[in-house]
Formats: sequence, C-alpha cells, structure tokens
Amino acid sequence: MKQLKAKILSNRKVGAGFYKMELASSYLAKASRPGQFVEIRCSRLVDPLLRRPLGVHRIWTRGIDLLYEVTGKGTAILSERRAGEELDVIGPLGNGFDLNLASDTNILVAGGIGVAPLAALAESLGAKEHKKIYALIGAGTKSHIMCDAEFKSMGCDVRLSTDDGSRGYKGRVTEPLVKLLDKCKLETYLPDFRRVTVYACGPTAMLKVVSRIALERGIPCQVSLEERMACGIGVCLGCPVKTKAGPYKMVCKDGPVFNTEELAW
Ligand SMILES: Cc1cc2nc3c(=O)[nH]c(=O)nc-3n(C[C@H](O)[C@H](O)[C@H](O)COP(=O)(O)OP(=O)(O)OC[C@H]3O[C@@H](n4cnc5c(N)ncnc54)[C@H](O)[C@@H]3O)c2cc1C
Ligand code: FES
Repeated sequence: MKQLKAKILSNRKVGAGFYKMELASSYLAKASRPGQFVEIRCSRLVDPLLRRPLGVHRIWTRGIDLLYEVTGKGTAILSERRAGEELDVIGPLGNGFDLNLASDTNILVAGGIGVAPLAALAESLGAKEHKKIYALIGAGTKSHIMCDAEFKSMGCDVRLSTDDGSRGYKGRVTEPLVKLLDKCKLETYLPDFRRVTVYACGPTAMLKVVSRIALERGIPCQVSLEERMACGIGVCLGCPVKTKAGPYKMVCKDGPVFNTEELAW
C-alpha cells in the first residue's frame, strides 16, 4: 500500500449518475487484487477532508479503473476531475476476494454499484478459461444496470434483474440466485453444493439475504461490505463489523471481503 499521485487518463459518464475513471499507475496495476479498494482525495482543495473509498473495478497493465456512482459531495467533485490531472490515491487497501476458494461454478451477485469490484473478480477467476461464471446483476431500474456487456465479453453467463421489471427478471437479484442454485444442485447430482462458490457486493440488506441463502445450503460465500470509512487503514475504528468469534473487525483492514460464516448478522 502506498500514497501516490495517479494520472487520470479518462473520466467519463457511463450511465445515469455512473462514471468510469481510468488511472495510470504501474504500482496499482501490479499490487491490486480483486476486491481491494483505494482511498481517493476527491478534491484538490481541503473540502471534503476525508478520502472516499472506491473499489478496484478493473486491473490492467497500465493501471486500474474505478467505476463509481455520484451519491454526494465527494463523488460529485470526482466526476468533474479531468483527464491529465493527477489524483491523490492511497492503495491498494483491504484483503480482496480469496481466489483459493474458487470452485468449478462461481456465482457473482451484484446489487447496484456493487457490480464495480466484481468485474475484476470475474476476470481473475478466468471467465474465458475452464471455470463457469455467472454474473447476476440487479438494480432498481434498467438505467442502473451496469457492466452487463463487460461481463458477457469476459465469457460470463449474465442474468439481469430489476426491481421494477424494466430489464430482465422483475424482482430482487436474490430470487434468480435461488433458482440458479437449485439448477446447479440438480446438475451436479451431489447432495450438497461443494462445487459452487458465491461472491456478492451491494447494499447490506442484499448481502444479508445472499449470506442466508448460501449458509442454508452450505455454500462458501464471500461478501464485500461497504461501511462508511474515514482512515481506511484500521486506525480510527470507524468501520466495525461484528463477527461470530466475538470481537469486532474493521471492514477497511480485515475486509472489505468476509466469509459469511464469520459475520454475526
Ligand atoms: C470498500 C468500499 C468500496 C467501495 N467501492 C465503491 C465503488 O467501487 N463505487 C462506488 O460508487 N462506491 C463505492 N463505495 C461507496 C463510496 O465510498 C461512497 O458512495 C462514497 O464514499 C460517497 O461519498 P460522497 O462524498 O459522494 O457522498 P457522502 O456525502 O459522503 O454520502 C452520500 C450518500 O452516500 C452514502 N454513503 C457514503 N459512504 C458510503 C459507503 N461507504 N457505503 C454506502 N453508502 C455510503 C451516505 O450514507 C449518503 O447517503 C465503496 C465503499 C467502500 C467502503
Ligand atoms: S475506516 Fe478507520 S478503522 Fe476503518
């Protein structure tokens, strides 16, 4: 992890309130793993003082991409930064997804902007190689569905859902998840789901449902949590999550990715 200045190669609107930023940094390219994040100083001025955490969306040889939704002051300022400027970044931070737990069948479940870190994960899991990767992408409405073409180009089997039915399945993304798991169970002819791993990122309420679905079936499941953060390095104790083992863990330092069995939800 380093504090560095990364040159902005591009920063463009890619959807309703969504932006993609390409950053040049050979260090971040080499050091970043899927599921890790960076802490960004959005403005060149003092305000907002606190850095904002954003997940590593894609990892290239020239640097990394970020995909973000404008939700407040920090991300609004970030959306106005221009190509050629330098961005003050600390990263990569956090643990990232544990790729050693990957199975023959990997199911990625994204809620809204939670899709951002799952693209890097899909690529690392080797969607073009031997593993089967499903990307279940859910959002409120069709204008908030992101990255479906990107996942398809990586060889993933993409399933969309929207709360209002404007694109894909009408309902929560967890409903197609249950259907898919039932199908996987039939196909493997196994009494359990030893050959399936679930990874999820999105709103906490969605992650809790995904966790319950996985736990009930004994499926390994990793969730990436999005707590509000200040320091991003485990010092301020501002991002606690309760674990079954007793003590609180810090999402920024011990996470943001956790195995669902660890969490006291
Ligand atoms: C590890 C991690 C990775 C993240 N990755 C991404 C990403 O790849 N793309 C992306 O768009 N966002 C991501 N987020 C969320 C992002 O950090 C917040 O949306 C951002 O900090 C909001 O800053 P702001 O100044 O624009 O809004 P603020 O004015 O600070 O807040 C505006 C609204 O956003 C909500 N909010 C603020 N912080 C968070 C948070 N951490 N999680 C959920 N809601 C929040 C607030 O409750 C408020 O309603 C990530 C968060 C974490 C912790
Ligand atoms: S943000 Fe400071 S401990 Fe996590």
